[in-house]
Amino acid sequence: MDRKALIIGASGQIGSELVATLRGRIGNQNVVASDIKEPDNGSELLNGPFEVLDVMNGELLKAIVEKHQITEVYLLAALLSATAEKKPMFAWQLNMDGLFNVLNLAKEGSLKKVFWPSSIAVFGPSSPKYLTPQVTVMEPTTVYGISKLAGERWCEYYHKQYGVDVRSIRYPGLISTKSLPGGGTTDYAVDIFYKAKKGEEFTCFLSEETALPMMFMDDAINATLNLMEADKSCLTIHSSYNVASLSFSPRQLTEAIRHIIPNFVVHYKPDFRQAIADTWPASIDDTVARKDWGWKAEYGLQKMVKEMLEKISV
Ligand code: SER
Repeated sequence: MDRKALIIGASGQIGSELVATLRGRIGNQNVVASDIKEPDNGSELLNGPFEVLDVMNGELLKAIVEKHQITEVYLLAALLSATAEKKPMFAWQLNMDGLFNVLNLAKEGSLKKVFWPSSIAVFGPSSPKYLTPQVTVMEPTTVYGISKLAGERWCEYYHKQYGVDVRSIRYPGLISTKSLPGGGTTDYAVDIFYKAKKGEEFTCFLSEETALPMMFMDDAINATLNLMEADKSCLTIHSSYNVASLSFSPRQLTEAIRHIIPNFVVHYKPDFRQAIADTWPASIDDTVARKDWGWKAEYGLQKMVKEMLEKISV
C-alpha cells in the first residue's frame, strides 16, 4: 500500500522530529508537514510538501487530505497542561475539535489510519502513582488531562462504532534536542540542559523530589512509528497505550548532568505546575504495549543526558 502522511502541528516538539524521521522512511514527497504558521525560510520542514493549516478548520483539512491523497494523519496540534490551565475553554476546543475533525474524515473513509497522542495526564490523584497500570482508576484534575481522557474514549468509540483505525500512545514528558516543548509541566527536563550547557544556574519550577515519567524523543518517535506500522490484528487497545521509559526527579536529573558538568547548580522554586505534577504518576506500567506490538525503550537516563549535552545548540 502506498503511504501518504499528513503531520498536523509539524513545527512543534514532536512534529519537527516526526516529519524528518518519517520522510527518511517513506520519502520526502510522501510526508506533508502542516502547521498553523509558515515555517522560517530554510526550515527542514520545507524539504518536502508543506501546508498552512489550523486543525479547527475542518473544510481546509479535508481539502488538504484530498489534494495530497493522504492515507494517514498524525494529529499533534494541542495545548499542553500548563497553558491549558490558563486557557481552559480554548484548550478544550482545540484539543477536542481538532480530534473530531480528523476522526470524522476517517469515518467518511478518506483515511486508512490516524495517530493521536494521549498523555500520562489522563491519570489523576486517585490513580496508583507507581507503575500505573494500563487499565485503572482515571480521574484527571487538569483541563489537559480531561481533554485527553475524553479524546481516548472517543477514539475507542470511533474504532468500535465506525471501524476507524486510530492508534494512540500516552506520552510521558518528552526530551528532545531539536525543538523546545511549550506550555507543559515536564518542560523543565528540556530547559535544564540549555542552562547546564551554557554554564549557567537553573531554577526549577518543580520541587527536587517530584518524579515523573519521561522519554527521550528518539524512543517516542520509534514508539509512534512502530505502533502505526504494527499489524492491526495484534492491537488490543483502541483508546491509548501506556508506554514507559525513564522516571526521574529533578534531583536525579541534576545528578546525572553533574556526572558530565560537575559544578552545575540548580535552585528550586515550585510554581503552579507543581500542583499539576503532584496529580500525575511517577512511573508507568507498559506491559500491554510490550506484548501487543513489541514496544521497548532504548534510552536510559545517563545515555539520554550525554546525548542531550552533546547535541543541543546553545
Ligand atoms: N509533557 C506534557 C505536559 O507537560 C505531558 O503530556 O503537559
